[in-house]
Amino acid sequence: MTSKIVAGPKRGHFSRSRSLVDFNKKFGKYIVQKTIQKALSQQKNVRVLEIGCGEGRVLMELRKLFPDIELHGINRKPWAAMQGQRSLPKTARHYGIFTPSELKKISLPQIHFYDAQELKFPKNYFDLVISQVSIQYVARKDLLLQEVWRTLKLGGKALLNIDARAGEIPDFLDFATPRFIIYKKSKIYPVKKLIQKLRKDGFDLRYASSTEKEEEKVKQRVHVLITKNSAKPLKLGLHFDDLSSFNLNVLNEEKNNWSVFWGYRSVYRC
Ligand SMILES: C[S@@+](CC[C@H](N)C(=O)[O-])C[C@H]1O[C@@H](n2cnc3c(N)ncnc32)[C@H](O)[C@@H]1O
Repeated sequence: MTSKIVAGPKRGHFSRSRSLVDFNKKFGKYIVQKTIQKALSQQKNVRVLEIGCGEGRVLMELRKLFPDIELHGINRKPWAAMQGQRSLPKTARHYGIFTPSELKKISLPQIHFYDAQELKFPKNYFDLVISQVSIQYVARKDLLLQEVWRTLKLGGKALLNIDARAGEIPDFLDFATPRFIIYKKSKIYPVKKLIQKLRKDGFDLRYASSTEKEEEKVKQRVHVLITKNSAKPLKLGLHFDDLSSFNLNVLNEEKNNWSVFWGYRSVYRC
């Protein structure tokens, strides 16, 4: 690992330590376990990727449930509580997932540090790709979705939480997906419509939403569900508007409202 350790929240901070239960609340009870079990019933080598794996809590919970599957996690950069594979045993101990003696016998998930707009894996590699509260931070959400499609095996699935909104919201973020905004001929073209169009074009993508209470706030979450049903490459056909897109954190210098100004505002034209 060559990346520099940067400052970040302590182990256990809610924003980087969501659990498998938290994940399944967004998509359906036991959905991750059921999807992996189904894949295991059809083949021996099952591979799972978590985009934005935080401290690696979900990956370690999956390791406990499925000792032999191949597990990968991606984060953009390391921080004190996530320094790659070597910090995973501490994560597992912190959340009571494994005892020290159990930890000696398991193979640790692999952790990669880079921007998930490119997934450095071969095509047709994963049975399942999951992500919660992370794609919001990626600038090129279009490239990420295309990459998820490319790296999924035929029949493979992705459960991707892509955005959220809660409470008061400023005008320029007042959309169903505040961090994924598309304009068609100067008018808003909702992500939901894009997903529906791709579905009509033969790609098995679905748009879904859920409501969750977190930190005393009711959050409306938006998800994209994928089943790779064709070997054809997925192309979203979006043009990234660099001028209108930016990291929302910069606004906290003036506004200091982290519950609103987080993630990356990605704007596209089509
Ligand atoms: C708010 S945390 C969520 C972590 C975990 N999924 C959870 O819910 O507890 C966002 C995560 O996304 C990762 N992340 C942010 N930007 C990213 C990028 N461009 N590429 C890959 N990972 C990114 C961060 O490293 C961090 O782990």
